[in-house]
Amino acid sequence: MERKITRDYMLIRDFEVSDIDEIVEILKLNNQYGHPEVDGPEAMKRVKACKAAVFLVCEVDGKVVGLVRGVYDGSRAIIHLLSVHPTCQGQGIGTALVREIVKRFGEKGAPTVSATVTDESLGFWQKVGFRKTKAFLVGNW
Ligand SMILES: CC(C)(COP(=O)(O)OP(=O)(O)OC[C@H]1O[C@@H](n2cnc3c(N)ncnc32)[C@H](O)[C@@H]1OP(=O)(O)O)[C@@H](O)C(=O)NCCC(=O)NCCS
Repeated sequence: MERKITRDYMLIRDFEVSDIDEIVEILKLNNQYGHPEVDGPEAMKRVKACKAAVFLVCEVDGKVVGLVRGVYDGSRAIIHLLSVHPTCQGQGIGTALVREIVKRFGEKGAPTVSATVTDESLGFWQKVGFRKTKAFLVGNW
């Protein structure tokens, strides 16, 4: 069932290990769980322990409905993963998550923030103020 969400009900907070099952469900529903070794429970625990990482969830009525994850190494800040539960998309949650992680990176001193992006989500990123650059992602998997 789709729920209308107002900003008053939205809580954006740091990831907790108890969020793992809900996050895995969201990633699976959004076809973002192709590499559990990178995005699965053990990886999430490692990210939580990493001082360079920022890993946030959005909670509505006690349920995790979205997540964002990135890293700032002292030079570049990069958002690696963003996902909103399909029944909660289009209600400003993705925007709120991106704004909060950008703010967190700013507080850590990051001069810029980049994101790894899919063609399908590029329009969203442009709406939240990111623009396409010449760089693109390559991988060894
Ligand atoms: C992309 C995603 C994170 C956006 O989250 P969301 O909560 O639905 O986004 P918002 O409600 O904050 O949308 C903000 C604006 O972007 C637009 N938008 C959202 N998704 C979009 C998309 N895929 N393409 C173009 N525009 C999009 C919205 O219509 C809205 O526009 P408006 O301000 O004119 O109303 C979410 O749709 C999602 O999780 N998708 C599946 C996973 C994914 O693609 N993740 C990103 C990979 S890099």
